Amino acid sequence: MAVLETKNLCYTYDKKRKPVLNNVSISFDEGKTYAIMGKSGTGKTTLLSLLSGLEVPTSGEILYHGKNINKIDKYKFRSQNIGVIFQSFNLLPQLTALENVILSMDVSGLKIKDKKGEALKMLSKVDINEEKANRKILKLSGGEQQRVAIARALCYNPDIILADEPTGNLDEENQNEVVNILKSLARDDGKCVIIVTHSQSVGNACDEIFDLSSLNKKTE
Ligand SMILES: Nc1ncnc2c1ncn2[C@@H]1O[C@H](COP(=O)(O)OP(=O)(O)OP(=O)(O)O)[C@@H](O)[C@H]1O
Ligand SMILES: [Mg+2]
Repeated sequence: MAVLETKNLCYTYDKKRKPVLNNVSISFDEGKTYAIMGKSGTGKTTLLSLLSGLEVPTSGEILYHGKNINKIDKYKFRSQNIGVIFQSFNLLPQLTALENVILSMDVSGLKIKDKKGEALKMLSKVDINEEKANRKILKLSGGEQQRVAIARALCYNPDIILADEPTGNLDEENQNEVVNILKSLARDDGKCVIIVTHSQSVGNACDEIFDLSSLNKKTE
């Protein structure tokens, strides 16, 4: 069974305008990477907000392991099952990298024995050593902040990772590194990884590409 699925998903911000998402039905499996592509304004970020439970569909359904996410405990879904990496990182700049990750563990409400040890392990997985982990976010480079945002999304072991243009501001080397980290999360840890991207090379590195421009058009 798909870990996450949309069925005839529609979303309208403003009833006077055309729907942003129009009957989108796609399904996502564990252990795979997906790219969501399409021109600016086609609804990629909107789709991620719906998949992460931040917005509620105008019509249609989003199923997590076959259950409508708007009928299950959404707080639990958002803080435990799904990890979101925002384009703007949404890290707290005055805290250290380590404190940002631990805070996210606290928010999840999960009982984690050695939070600091686990957080450092997550950070080292994305190549942030202990010295960098103890630096304030503001004192890390853009690529390093991006990797901290990944560690933060992973720290409560969600089965789905959503990332909105995670390589948008990175040079090629950092872009490749972030893509490799995300791919290994799918391949080695069995996570479902969904990446919004404008980069064809990031798209090609994924197992499957969904082009929202044509998915929306087909059903109009
Ligand atoms: N809060 C909002 N209220 C009204 N309209 C919105 C809102 N957010 C987005 N839109 C509109 O919905 C459409 C889809 O926006 P969305 O942010 O999902 O696009 P996107 O595919 O992520 O674009 P980009 O590649 O530029 O990030 C756009 O036409 C946008 O103007
Ligand atoms: Mg967007």
